[in-house]
Amino acid sequence: MNSCADWNDGAPRIPLPRALPAWTYSHPEMTRLEYERILKPSWQIVCHVNSIAKPGDYVAVELGSDSVVVVRTAQGAIRAFHNVCRHRGARILDGAGNCPGAITCPYHGWSYKLSGELIGMPARESFPGLDRSQFALKPVTSQIMFGFVFVTLSGTPPSLEQIWGNCAAEFAPHRFEEMMPLGPLYTEEWDCDWKIAMDNYLESYHVPIGHPGLFRMFTPDYEDQLNLPTGVARGISWFRERLSSRWSERMYQQWVGRVSQNLPESHRRRWSFYSMLPNLGIDVFPDQMDFFQVLPRGPGKCVIRGGSFALPDDRREMKIVRYLATRINRQVQREDAFLCRRVQEGLASGSYEPGPLSRLENCMLEFHNLLREKIPEARSPHAPARFM
Ligand code: FES
Ligand SMILES: [Fe+2]
Repeated sequence: MNSCADWNDGAPRIPLPRALPAWTYSHPEMTRLEYERILKPSWQIVCHVNSIAKPGDYVAVELGSDSVVVVRTAQGAIRAFHNVCRHRGARILDGAGNCPGAITCPYHGWSYKLSGELIGMPARESFPGLDRSQFALKPVTSQIMFGFVFVTLSGTPPSLEQIWGNCAAEFAPHRFEEMMPLGPLYTEEWDCDWKIAMDNYLESYHVPIGHPGLFRMFTPDYEDQLNLPTGVARGISWFRERLSSRWSERMYQQWVGRVSQNLPESHRRRWSFYSMLPNLGIDVFPDQMDFFQVLPRGPGKCVIRGGSFALPDDRREMKIVRYLATRINRQVQREDAFLCRRVQEGLASGSYEPGPLSRLENCMLEFHNLLREKIPEARSPHAPARFM
């Protein structure tokens, strides 16, 4: 029998969907439009509420050309501001830390209350008639959802309750709100466009080949998939009955159920992977959870920013299990960085035309369709002349 007929398996030949054209993964105008039209109007995690537990604690995040800082006020509230001084625009805070009492600009020393109001400036008499109330730090729209502070920089996206729908209830047994950071938030530069890193997270078709360790421990999450029309998706990987041949994986498989007795039985035997378009991933394990967001840093480069969180638990066995999970995940992340870099390299070849997508890549297709909807030029096989 001819191989073509085998391949077609008797099904009618309908054209399979394709990925975005290669030029969209390395063009500065695409990156600019993606930021303006897709990332700015979406919800971005800044930190966990317990990452800023004390008055004055803050976390700043760089989002495209913007920087946002989230601060715990003296009254214990959480506020989000543009991290831009109202005097001459200097960036005020970096990374994470504590501002004792007030937020002070490092340039000329304007200082702001933790709630944003301008308190004072050196040589105040040199600003005759200045109305301080007009120069508070500019607020950013924020929302707290399952223990995380999210911000959005433009438009009015649907609320996070609407976006996450029933999926949020799946987090309840893990009590994200009560979790503490297992370490500081990390950022890691990857040599690929942000869309390649996101494409990679959105499909698990690559797991059996690309992540042999994960595949030894888990079933791929092809079966237990949930896909909401709001851009949230979830896949579940179940522990295999058969133990892995590698000691760290085997030990994790054996121990994790025992140390997470607080969870319903079904939650003790799985790793669940959630995504929210355009750029957020949330991984839920019996012993901890993590989030990461993929942020563009110009065409062909991105930053992965994230952190891990867990319920306070001093038991030695839990510490070992968390150590093992972190070790396994670091390996997965190294594998993903390696694979994504190779895609970026391949896309640079003029010979590449987007290949067909599997049904197992349907979340990625949804991501590409969002990009096509918001940036219609992305449908074109070549960069439009006006993009040059
Ligand atoms: S720019 Fe901040 S005090 Fe001048
Ligand atoms: Fe992966």
